[in-house]
Amino acid sequence: MLAVVALLVLALSGSFPVLAGGERPAPDGKAVWIYLKDAGYTSWPLFPGKDKLYKGRHPHGAWLTTYVSPDALAAIQSKKGMLPNGAFVVKENYSPEKKLAAVTVMYRVSGFDSEAGDWFWAKYAPDGKVLKEGKVKGCIQCHQAVISNDWIFTGPVK
Ligand code: HEC
Repeated sequence: MLAVVALLVLALSGSFPVLAGGERPAPDGKAVWIYLKDAGYTSWPLFPGKDKLYKGRHPHGAWLTTYVSPDALAAIQSKKGMLPNGAFVVKENYSPEKKLAAVTVMYRVSGFDSEAGDWFWAKYAPDGKVLKEGKVKGCIQCHQAVISNDWIFTGPVK
């Protein structure tokens, strides 16, 4: 009973260790996927300046659709230069036949990886199977080319 109360107090005070940025999921592939599905990320805004199914570059896919969480959109639009703690960029990667091939995610978790912008990286199969997650070297090595744009290629954030 005491333990339950203690957990409740921790959760309510916002210091619950598994919650990064309010109600956001822990930096964990599965938890992030469940969160994105529950939040209905496909109803989030598109990355400013991009339509649904725009032509992609190597390596992500022939066609891309990129969503941003509302707090990410606000930061991009006000040219903050950096997305806030808890922000998401969710990119759907489609084959040349416009079939969903993978979902790649950048999720900002303050303190998660200070050497690489505190981004949590994840790649999912269309059914949500976690293919890559965490401090993924491949993602980081390529995206560091745009370190000055908060590690983001798709469009300016400042
Ligand atoms: C070889 C370089 C390269 C690698 C490796 C790479 N990316 Fe990207 N990524 C890009 C490029 C280029 C874009 C812009 C896409 C476009 O417009 O075609 C992009 C876009 C994105 C975006 C949309 C936000 C943004 O930065 O523009 C996300 C999310 C993303 N990548 C996640 C990942 C994840 C997760 C991994 C690792 C599993 C990964 N990327 C690996 C080059 C790379």
